Amino acid sequence: MKTKAISILGCTGSIGVQTLDLVRHYPDAYNVIGLAAGKNITLLKKQLLEFKPKIVSISHVNDAKELTLFCKENSLMITIEHGEKGLETICKNPVDLLVMAIVGTAGIKPTYIAIQNKIPIALACKEVLVSAGDLIIALAKKNNVPLIPVDSEHAATQQCLATQNTIAPIIKTITLTASGGPFWTLPHSEFKDITKEKALKHPTWSMGNKISIDSSTMVNKGLEIIEAHHLFNISYDKLKVSIHRQSIVHAIVEFIDGNILAHLSPTDMRFPIQYALDYPYKKQTKFKGLDINKLSALTFEEPDNTRFPLLNIAIEAGKQKGSYPAVFNAANEAIVTLFLQDKLTFLQIHTFIEDILAKFNHFIPKTIEDIIDIDTQIKHDILQTT
Ligand SMILES: NC(=O)c1ccc[n+]([C@@H]2O[C@H](COP(=O)([O-])OP(=O)(O)OC[C@H]3O[C@@H](n4cnc5c(N)ncnc54)[C@H](OP(=O)(O)O)[C@@H]3O)[C@@H](O)[C@H]2O)c1
Repeated sequence: MKTKAISILGCTGSIGVQTLDLVRHYPDAYNVIGLAAGKNITLLKKQLLEFKPKIVSISHVNDAKELTLFCKENSLMITIEHGEKGLETICKNPVDLLVMAIVGTAGIKPTYIAIQNKIPIALACKEVLVSAGDLIIALAKKNNVPLIPVDSEHAATQQCLATQNTIAPIIKTITLTASGGPFWTLPHSEFKDITKEKALKHPTWSMGNKISIDSSTMVNKGLEIIEAHHLFNISYDKLKVSIHRQSIVHAIVEFIDGNILAHLSPTDMRFPIQYALDYPYKKQTKFKGLDINKLSALTFEEPDNTRFPLLNIAIEAGKQKGSYPAVFNAANEAIVTLFLQDKLTFLQIHTFIEDILAKFNHFIPKTIEDIIDIDTQIKHDILQTT
């Protein structure tokens, strides 16, 4: 396999750091060209020294100035940019693969620009397809740009489907598994006492803050169902969720002839990330695999819509199409931010989102700018008034 030139947006986050860990383990396989971060300049500096990219972007101009000085002091020949313009530069720079690992809707515009520039994308940022799925998929199809899933359930689904020539007509169901999050066994009467510290403690995965909170409310699985709908062009009635506490089986595809394929891998995001980095090829892993004989039990349960109503609310927003999923996503992002700032309670996450979805004057967004306007307006209203 020839060395792949890659850029990573969100290089200082959970997915970004694990992607760079793969680069560290396979120095001949990947060449890091572009890196983009938000605020974590300390970690970014270490990454520059280790991976020596050609272009780097950071959100704020003052951080960019500090990085320029840092590069000079360390004799690093790196172009430093900042803000949206910096992300745009990286997304226009030709590479074999762009890893989109920014959290939230900040990933929409860069993804759109990369697709316009015909750059293949390894997509971790699910919010891109949740808010702007119709437009992003249409452009990716028009420009023949592959969107390779990084989310473990979607990478799993794609691998289950890999042996089939035609997709939608022969699929009976696609089941995405969910761990159930930290509160799966907690009685509803105790939900009022849930703090952000408890919500951030995911039982099986170690992830960024936003996705950890989304897992605790089950919003994450709702977002993933919408993501799967767009990625696999599959109707919502064929998409199911199963609570699988062990997080070993990531997706299950049932075909119309009754045959079922399931995908298993260790609870380690480096497996789906490596799948996306190497797609359509595979190479020898350097990480600890599964010992099947040591798995004592694999359990599957129905989701609980009474204690976790946001799963269905998210899926319903996806089904409604138009502005609904973008409004749901923006409301969730803003409300999770407030929850992480201790400005509202765990139970209010649900009531606030429902209220915002109901009050919005919905319409059919025609452009990416329409989606970004919805996102900005919803977040502004929530963050200003709460
Ligand atoms: N973590 C997982 O295991 C996992 C699994 C499946 C899917 N995903 C999806 O992958 C995405 C990333 O998740 P994560 O857990 O890695 O999040 P995270 O740990 O919070 O990292 C987010 C990254 O985005 C960067 N960022 C945020 N806003 C930015 C902006 N405006 N410009 C440039 N960079 C920006 C952050 O930079 P700073 O830290 O420097 O501010 C950080 O590098 C999410 O959509 C999530 O749902 C994650």
